[in-house]
Amino acid sequence: MERSLVLIKPDAMERGLGGNIIGRLQQQSLKLLALKMLHMDRDLAERHYAIHKGKPFYNDLVEYITSTPIIACVFEGEGAIDKIRQVMGATDPARAEAGTVRADFGLDIQRNATHASDSLENARKEIELFFTADEIFEY
Ligand code: CMP
Repeated sequence: MERSLVLIKPDAMERGLGGNIIGRLQQQSLKLLALKMLHMDRDLAERHYAIHKGKPFYNDLVEYITSTPIIACVFEGEGAIDKIRQVMGATDPARAEAGTVRADFGLDIQRNATHASDSLENARKEIELFFTADEIFEY
């Protein structure tokens, strides 16, 4: 069974969209195993987005993700990585398919409402950054 890390980003938090987005995932038979609200500090943001270090948008991305509290969740399900990415839609809301979270709520490529792990390997690393083993529930 696959697991993925999902973040409800600042632009979605400011507009009260967390419950809606989490609900959409639960409706797809994805199981919520862990959830917390936190204000990411620079260190966590830099570790989470280490893969993007050096890209032109990196500094703005770190500033943005640390600008308000966020919600972090772990979801589990068959093919969870791809399933969640389908629910979210393309990274750039302008390219996201109708009915996806980013088409409905994304403002631009930075303020795109959510983050979701893009591979099993990244999911494992990302989940470890945000959650200890005893914060993840099996039921
Ligand atoms: P996310 O899935 O959180 O992973 C990295 C983030 O960087 C991505 O979502 C976008 O919000 C952001 N991003 C990717 N490409 C660009 C870009 N060209 N300009 C600004 N932000 C970007």
